[in-house]
Amino acid sequence: MSFCTIPLKSTIKILILCFISNSLYSQMNSNDLIDKKVDSLLNLMTLEEKVGQMNLYNGFWDVTGPVPQEGSAEQKYEHLKKGWVGAMLSVRGVEQVREVQKVAVEESRLGIPLIFGFDVIHGYKTLSPIPLAESCSWDLEAIEKSARVAAIEASSVGLNWTFAPMVDISRDARWGRVMEGAGEDPFLGSQIAKARVKGFQGDDLSANNTLAATAKHFAAYGFIEAGREYNSVDIGTSTLYNTVLPPFKAAVDANVRSVMNSFNEINGIPVTASKFLQRDILKGKWNFNGFVVSDWASIWELINWGHAKDKREAAKLASTAGSDMDMEGYVYIEELVKLVNDGTVKESIVDDAVKRILRLKYELGLFDNPYKYCNESREKSTLYHKDHQEAALDIAKKSIVLLKNENNLLPLKKEGQKIALIGALASEKNSPLGSWRIASDDNTAISVLEGMQQYKDNSLVYEKGVDLTIGKTHFVEEVVINETDKSNFPKAIEAAKDADVVVMVLGEHGFQSGEARSRTQIDLPGLQQELLEEVYKANKNIVLVLNNGRPLAIEWADKHIPTIVEAWQLGSQTGNAVAQVLYGDYNPSGKLTMTFPRNVGQVPIYYNYKSTGRPINREGNVFWSHYIDSERTPLYAFGHGLSYTSFEYGNFKINGKTFNINDTVEVSVDVTNSGNYNGKEVVQLYIRDLFGSITRPVRELKGFELVELKKGETKTIQFKLDKSLLGFYNNEGEFIVEAGDFKVFVGGSSMTTLEKSFELIE
Ligand code: NOJ
Repeated sequence: MSFCTIPLKSTIKILILCFISNSLYSQMNSNDLIDKKVDSLLNLMTLEEKVGQMNLYNGFWDVTGPVPQEGSAEQKYEHLKKGWVGAMLSVRGVEQVREVQKVAVEESRLGIPLIFGFDVIHGYKTLSPIPLAESCSWDLEAIEKSARVAAIEASSVGLNWTFAPMVDISRDARWGRVMEGAGEDPFLGSQIAKARVKGFQGDDLSANNTLAATAKHFAAYGFIEAGREYNSVDIGTSTLYNTVLPPFKAAVDANVRSVMNSFNEINGIPVTASKFLQRDILKGKWNFNGFVVSDWASIWELINWGHAKDKREAAKLASTAGSDMDMEGYVYIEELVKLVNDGTVKESIVDDAVKRILRLKYELGLFDNPYKYCNESREKSTLYHKDHQEAALDIAKKSIVLLKNENNLLPLKKEGQKIALIGALASEKNSPLGSWRIASDDNTAISVLEGMQQYKDNSLVYEKGVDLTIGKTHFVEEVVINETDKSNFPKAIEAAKDADVVVMVLGEHGFQSGEARSRTQIDLPGLQQELLEEVYKANKNIVLVLNNGRPLAIEWADKHIPTIVEAWQLGSQTGNAVAQVLYGDYNPSGKLTMTFPRNVGQVPIYYNYKSTGRPINREGNVFWSHYIDSERTPLYAFGHGLSYTSFEYGNFKINGKTFNINDTVEVSVDVTNSGNYNGKEVVQLYIRDLFGSITRPVRELKGFELVELKKGETKTIQFKLDKSLLGFYNNEGEFIVEAGDFKVFVGGSSMTTLEKSFELIE
């Protein structure tokens, strides 16, 4: 149905909008055409209507944050009719979307269609692994596909805008939201940011199966102090430019259509009000032409930060700084018109924001057909589609990381083994969906138990051993962890005694990570550690399968348990993926993208740290950079991950010793599958710039390749290092390359010792 055929109350409205939409500028290229259309429409708008476009309301249900003031359904409805709403979030389902869109299109004066946004983070109904898990696949194609599937499902229910990808770099496992990002590395994070944006947005934003993406949270939310949610951030300029900003820049370069700002402050300025970040960097230096959406009520929260004294000042600060749309904060809608009318905020600021928002509406094709995402039969046939389940299974397998496999306990034999499966998480069908699954249906994950039951030629006994949670859990609720009831221990211990191999599924509940789920202890929650130790006394042949949304401190397990598999929260297909890996139908290929600490006291811990003035114990005394009660090294390093086969590296070459700054350094290495299984290896390349005007990290990932090798096969892997990879940002935010000595490392983890050197000269 075309917008022009919809029966509208006002004939003038039809004429004006059809004219703007279709005929007037038919000769122009599409960008210029959109600009012209936007300008024409803007000319028709009252100030109230313009400010209305900057207003984003949550739907009439599903609140994902505290509402600063009562935003009643009646009020929202009234505002929709007046054209005072630019977009809605969390209205979903074809019927609801159509109903709300109809109000905007048919009842408001200009009939400007709404954008419908939602947190489509790792799927809509069919859920892929949590994003941190997906990043461990290092498989950009599979990650893009996962976002594509999410977009196909979400767009079929009327949505056209997702609040993803989260591209925050994070080094602190206490922060619950590490599950939503791509880990600690800016290079990998940038590649994944691009892949996710491409997956959501596809090649054609106006297609009805793509979503506009949002790079969030701009910026430095991953660096909140002490990992405590919504806390302040205090980072240096060098970290900001070299670590925090690159994935956002990558997303902007990939044409992400919106950016969400973050809840934190930097240098005493809450970023919602940061002109430096939003106008100078994002819209200035980077030339971003999409729009900036605030996070939930973050404009209003400027008051709580003690930065704005009231809503009026909050509206002034945020709009001037470049926050274009107010998410459920009621600040712009109440204050901006007055601020413009009394000359405090220039109307050009409002115009700029509105143009950015209208531009997306044109790009999405909403003016041609505001109901283009609303098709009930597509909705029905798309959700939980079997192709989506297949894609979810594919990336779930690829996300699993084999941390340890002593005595080759894995893969399990396919017959004749007596297996005891232990742990409440093993039979969970809800927890593996993670905490960001607002649209998905409860209990729709395949549990590990169900996955393993498909391998029928072994005997499988299941005992939960101990409940992880007690009481009902729900999205906005916190889970209550069982700290007392050990009544099921004995049954689990008996089952273990009788087994050849014990598979224990332990870790965090899905609701223990995610937004507002910071933890001060990052070991196995509740009574699980005690259960593990008791079962270990009965049978040492344990395969520990971890389910978690953040790196855990599992030093005891690493010391005692022969085999450890990191299986995160893998979404709808969890059990199938885990079972296929345990039984060797898929040879694990994942590598960690966040460092695992030995204990919480080491956090923040990350591979690309700085040397310090006292990096080693040179003089055999206490005065060097270390802990007196723990190793300073990680338990499992960034990039670490094993396979059932083994890989050997050889013939490592660089095409010279000295290079000009403008040259390209070529590196090659032969990788051989020297074990007994076909497998995949993530070949990683790191550099170290030995001396810099700004100190450089001890290692920086600058290349990787996921390579598939049959048993006995060798492949030569080549990397190219040009100045875009050898340089860095100085403290003025300029990208520079400095002459000097470099080291290059290649291997299967950030701890690789295979190294060579070269020199860059001017
Ligand atoms: C708050 C979160 O920080 C953000 O990531 C999310 O998109 C919004 N709520 C909307 O749900």
